Amino acid sequence: MRNDTIRSIVRAYDDPVVRAYCWARFLVLRQRFLEEIGQYLPPSGPVLDIGCGFGLFSLYYAATGPGRVVRGLDLSARRIAMARRAARRLGLENVAYELGDARDFKGDSEVAAAYMLDIVHHVPPESVPALLAQLRRCLAPGRLLLVKDVDTRPAPKRWFTWALDRLMAPRTPVHYWSTEELTGALERAGFGVRRHLMVDLLPYPHVLYICEARR
Ligand SMILES: C[S@@+](CC[C@H](N)C(=O)[O-])C[C@H]1O[C@@H](n2cnc3c(N)ncnc32)[C@H](O)[C@@H]1O
Repeated sequence: MRNDTIRSIVRAYDDPVVRAYCWARFLVLRQRFLEEIGQYLPPSGPVLDIGCGFGLFSLYYAATGPGRVVRGLDLSARRIAMARRAARRLGLENVAYELGDARDFKGDSEVAAAYMLDIVHHVPPESVPALLAQLRRCLAPGRLLLVKDVDTRPAPKRWFTWALDRLMAPRTPVHYWSTEELTGALERAGFGVRRHLMVDLLPYPHVLYICEARR
């Protein structure tokens, strides 16, 4: 059933290169990992996807949680246009996309949860604390921010991830955070942090940070 959801999402994109990219992303964040992440999402309410890219995962979490209203934000106009088109094709009305820079994000309305999948390492590191503080503002105490990113260790896995990032987006800067650094930044922004290791056969140093808004 959920594999069918993934297939129908990929088919909602016309461009064969984008489809290939989507298959690659769903291979990296395959169903098992989507469920590991998704178990922390509420079944209903507004959910933010910061750095949503082509919209793959917002489409997935909207399709598998019809009570959610997922709002995706990304810097790339092309990706946002493709995400909107894919949502229309899939007939999903509980997902919306917005063009914007995460560095300008203002947490001015409350959400039930927020997530960032492989985006923190693309945001200039000096802008990350302000972004985390804004995300904290739109989550009531006890609500969750989920951050999936990559660790700096072990070094060979970091090099592998760096090579792929260079291949996929050669002009996008990257800065990887160690788990200690990112945990510290999340705690300073007002979150209690648990880490969930996403063990992979592929050489990715994935880490999922489950961040609970503190009182
Ligand atoms: C590796 S992709 C991940 C996309 C999506 N979260 C996923 O997992 O497939 C990184 C995304 O971050 C977006 N991005 C990078 N810097 C950003 C910023 N400052 N504000 C919003 N989006 C940004 C890029 O346009 C790109 O779509």
